[in-house]
Amino acid sequence: MSTILITGTNRGIGLKLTEIFAENNWEVIACCRKPKNADKLNEIAKKYNNIKILKLDVSDFDSIEELSKSLKEKKIDILLNNAGVYGNNKGQFFENIDYKSFKDTLKINTLAPLKLSEVFIEHVKSSNNKVIAIITSMMGSITLNTDGKEFIYRVSKCAANMVVKCLSNELKEKSISVIAIHPGWVKTDMGGKDAPVAPEESAKGIYNVLMNININSTGKFIDFQGNELPW
Ligand SMILES: NC(=O)c1ccc[n+]([C@@H]2O[C@H](COP(=O)([O-])OP(=O)(O)OC[C@H]3O[C@@H](n4cnc5c(N)ncnc54)[C@H](OP(=O)(O)O)[C@@H]3O)[C@@H](O)[C@H]2O)c1
Repeated sequence: MSTILITGTNRGIGLKLTEIFAENNWEVIACCRKPKNADKLNEIAKKYNNIKILKLDVSDFDSIEELSKSLKEKKIDILLNNAGVYGNNKGQFFENIDYKSFKDTLKINTLAPLKLSEVFIEHVKSSNNKVIAIITSMMGSITLNTDGKEFIYRVSKCAANMVVKCLSNELKEKSISVIAIHPGWVKTDMGGKDAPVAPEESAKGIYNVLMNININSTGKFIDFQGNELPW
């Protein structure tokens, strides 16, 4: 059985990804900040015996290291960095930037996926699939940005895209594929009620993308429908 570790699985896209991988017979290490309060995730885990729920706040780097040690010899075929935040809504705009929120957002959206990749590198390297993916966003694309605004979120996801590019170059010799995925504009707490894509559709698309990744696709920025996006 192949294994995927997903962060931020108690709601939104991460919850649906957990369900889809579990129903496709993957072992899912479903990480979230508060397992006891993760009602929907616990409900799904009752249906499948291949979901293991573990506590992880990705902004707590000591706990990332502890998690890695507790999973010692575990092979992780896909490390899927999904957990993310938008940052303070009101503090996203020029002349009113919330720098405290900016720093917190960078830690979660940008630094944590890098830290997880460092700490879990041996787990991924020893697996069959050898994939690291980060859910970034089209809003992190420099080419597609014609609007400005939303500084905190855009900068954090743009920098996460660069993390992907750097990792893909460095890890190619270890045969590890690293990609950035845009999940679409998705109807979740973050995406809001006007978003056109349902979480199930996004998660199914991401599942298909991840099933088709190999070393030839490393270093790419791909959306949930499999289209390549410009950095
Ligand atoms: N929705 C969209 O339209 C859209 C578009 C582009 C990209 N994305 C990206 O897709 C990913 C998932 O987004 P979503 O729409 O599912 O958002 P969401 O519904 O707001 O869910 C975010 C998830 O991230 C978790 N999280 C936040 N901070 C965390 C931390 N410090 N440690 C561990 N988990 C943490 C949340 O857990 P808690 O419940 O504990 O807060 C929650 O499980 C994010 O990276 C987001 O930036 C979303």
